[in-house]
Amino acid sequence: MTDATRSRLRALPSLTGSAPTLDPGSVTADPVALFLEWLECAEHAGVPEPHAMTLSTVDEWGVPDARVLVLKDVDERGWAFAGTKTSVKGRQLDVTAHAALTFWWQPLVRSVRVRGAVVEASREESLADLSARSPAAREGVDADDWTLWRVVPTRIEFWQGSVDRRHVRIVFGRENGHWQLEG
Ligand SMILES: Cc1cc2nc3c(=O)[nH]c(=O)nc-3n(C[C@H](O)[C@H](O)[C@H](O)COP(=O)(O)O)c2cc1C
Repeated sequence: MTDATRSRLRALPSLTGSAPTLDPGSVTADPVALFLEWLECAEHAGVPEPHAMTLSTVDEWGVPDARVLVLKDVDERGWAFAGTKTSVKGRQLDVTAHAALTFWWQPLVRSVRVRGAVVEASREESLADLSARSPAAREGVDADDWTLWRVVPTRIEFWQGSVDRRHVRIVFGRENGHWQLEG
């Protein structure tokens, strides 16, 4: 990297949003509810496409891969996303059914990370997702190929950045089906 590039990057501001204060003691013990609350805040804060997220997978050699997708649903079953089974991500998930999701909501200086096993939804759910897409988005997609998956999280991190660098990180881990706050 040249000095000019380094200087340019160093001069770019970061964590410039308007960060709400977050008291870790006051958050709900249910990470699904907390995620939905933060998603709603992101919508209200005018985050463009707050449901866009990075899906990270690994290939057959364990090398990471990542791309942007939209979130389709969130509930106690997991974080849902969709695509074709014959895509690179679909083939990677066939081999290693684990993934991570990353959200970044800049105006709120908030990020969420979700990681866990990936399970395929029923064919009915996948077809329902496909039929909810616009005709343009359905064009050329083989219905048998379209697949809805869910990340079933074992770890969820909520990160509230702060201009003074006193960032707050709330991490939930799931053990024996129960969410625990990690220190
Ligand atoms: C904002 C945004 C949303 C996207 N949503 C999806 C999606 O929901 N499903 C999908 O398969 N690809 C989506 N894509 C395209 C993916 O980023 C990616 O290019 C594609 O899925 C192929 O990835 P793969 O080769 O790793 O399988 C989206 C891209 C962007 C920028």
